[in-house]
Formats: sequence, C-alpha cells, structure tokens
Amino acid sequence: MVKKVAVLTSGGDAPGMNACVRAVVRSGLKNGLDMFVVYEGYRGLVEDNIVQVDRNFVSDTINRGGTILHSARLPEFKEESVRKIAVENLKKRGIDGLVVIGGDGTYLGAKKLTEMGVKTVGLPGTIDNDIASTDETIGFDTCLNTICECVDKIRDTTTSHQRCTFIEVMGNRCGDLALYSGIAEGVEMILTPDHPLPFEEITSTLKRLRNGKKKHSLVVVSEKLYPNIHDFAKEVSKATGIECRAEVLGHLQRGGSPSARDRILATQYGVHAIEALLDGESGICIGLVNNRFVRYDIYEALNLPRDKHIELLKIISLVNR
Ligand code: F6P
Repeated sequence: MVKKVAVLTSGGDAPGMNACVRAVVRSGLKNGLDMFVVYEGYRGLVEDNIVQVDRNFVSDTINRGGTILHSARLPEFKEESVRKIAVENLKKRGIDGLVVIGGDGTYLGAKKLTEMGVKTVGLPGTIDNDIASTDETIGFDTCLNTICECVDKIRDTTTSHQRCTFIEVMGNRCGDLALYSGIAEGVEMILTPDHPLPFEEITSTLKRLRNGKKKHSLVVVSEKLYPNIHDFAKEVSKATGIECRAEVLGHLQRGGSPSARDRILATQYGVHAIEALLDGESGICIGLVNNRFVRYDIYEALNLPRDKHIELLKIISLVNR
C-alpha cells in the first residue's frame, strides 16, 4: 500500500485545480499518508522541485483560480531517460504514489511512470472538457460561465450596431466549450470541429436572419477551426453585406475563481484519487460518468471515442435559428 504520495498539476491550468490539490492533500493526510507537492508539473519532477506539505499548505486555496503549484508542458517527458530522473527523485524520498491533474498528455505521462514502478492516478483538469473518460472535467463549468459573461457583453454592442459577431472560444479541437456556451447564450450559430458548416450555409443563414425582425447575430466558433477568425469575419461581410466583427476570447477563459460546481467536483475527484491509491490501484484515471465516479485504465481511457453530442446538436437546430 502507498505511504507517501505526491500531487502535481500539468498542461493548461484550469479553475478548480487548487480545490483538487487541496482535497488530495487533506484526504491523504487524513488517511495517514505523507503528502508532497510537485511544482511546475512534470518539469518539477525532473528538476526535483518537490516539497512535503501539511494541511495548512492548502488553506484558503479552494476559491483561487489558476494553480498554486504552477503548471508546465514538458514534451521531453516522452523520453524514457528524462522520466528515469523523475522516478529517481520520487524514489529518493520514498514517494510511491503520484496524483496528476491535467489532460490527455498528463495521463499518458502518468501511465509511463506506472510502467516504471510509480503508482499513479490521473484526474481530469482542463477547461476543454476533451477527456473522453469523463462527462465533465475540472474547470469546464467555470470557463463556460466566463464565456457566457463575455458573450452577454458582446451581445450588447452587437445588438446596438446590428452587426454579426463571431466569438472564438478555446477548446483545443474539442467543441464542447463552443457548443455549451452557444446553447446557454442562444446564439444563432455554433461552429465546432464536429459540426462545421459550409461557408454558403453560414452566409445564407445570416442573410435569412437579417431579413427577419432580428437584425443582429452571434456566432460561437471553436478555436483552430479557421486559421484567422478576423479574416473569416471579413469574408462573411463581403459575401453578405452584413457588418461583421470577430472577438477572440483567449486566455481570460482560463482565469477566475472556480464556480461552486467546479470546487465540489474537484474536491470529489481528489478524494477518489486517494481512495483508489489506497485500494492498490495504479495507472488509472477517474471519470464522472452518468453522475458516478468510475475508474479506467489510462490506456483504455485514452482510446475511448468522444461523445459528439448529437442530441445537443438537434436542440440547436430546433431552438437557435
Ligand atoms: O488545454 C487548454 C487550452 O487553454 C486550450 O483550450 C488551448 O488550445 C491551449 O490550452 C492554449 O495553450 P497555451 O496556454 O499553452 O497557449
């Protein structure tokens, strides 16, 4: 059974990561484990930036955005020689368990460490909601609310000037942020990698809407769908005669105090990670599926197909335009 456990955050930061670290640290201590934190994700493992902590280390962090452990992306972690250094740094302190909070890349790193003798558990921390083994990742809800606040403001000025505004949101090739925020905002169109529309359909829809009573339109677009959303807006302007603007919401989407939902979810995930390690599990990740926390082998999780939300897409076509 594990006796000493470390926790790290890796990849893009997400609101709620601190609440999750807090839950891992505190539930580990309550179960009699020695608890450690690793700064700067896998880089901190390699550079030996590891510190033993007590319960006060995570006081007053449940409400804080970002990650107090800092985060990093370390492509070199794919190399076994680099991972060996990380394993040595854990071993010399007697750390036998590791909880990683991040996305798919973070999970893969954890699985590789498992194969080198470290017991690992992955928790889904990313605003993108792009992890197939869970219905909801830590940070998604907060980010969604942040996007909605922004779109509310953009709506005011779009309405005043009777324009069409394209709002580009994050998601890293996953359309969930666009899809859910688009539904929550009742926008005219939602364009995602799973649901792109041909240029002609976009322009004809906008022209049809313009000929009705409502003179403005909002369109939410997933990042990376178009090389440059500003150029795209100009092309639509040219083709329709409608004045168009584009807004890229950018990194503000990752910031801010986590929502109550994310704080609770993150706390639950953290407690489940320690439980799994105490049960002798390793190389697994925790997901929330149909409101139940489940354990998956990381490789199995990484190969699961992602839900394309066909049901939600139907709703949009019925309600939004
Ligand atoms: O994975 C989170 C995310 O914010 C994605 O939505 C986005 O594509 C990417 O990270 C941006 O990464 P960076 O902060 O390294 O520019």
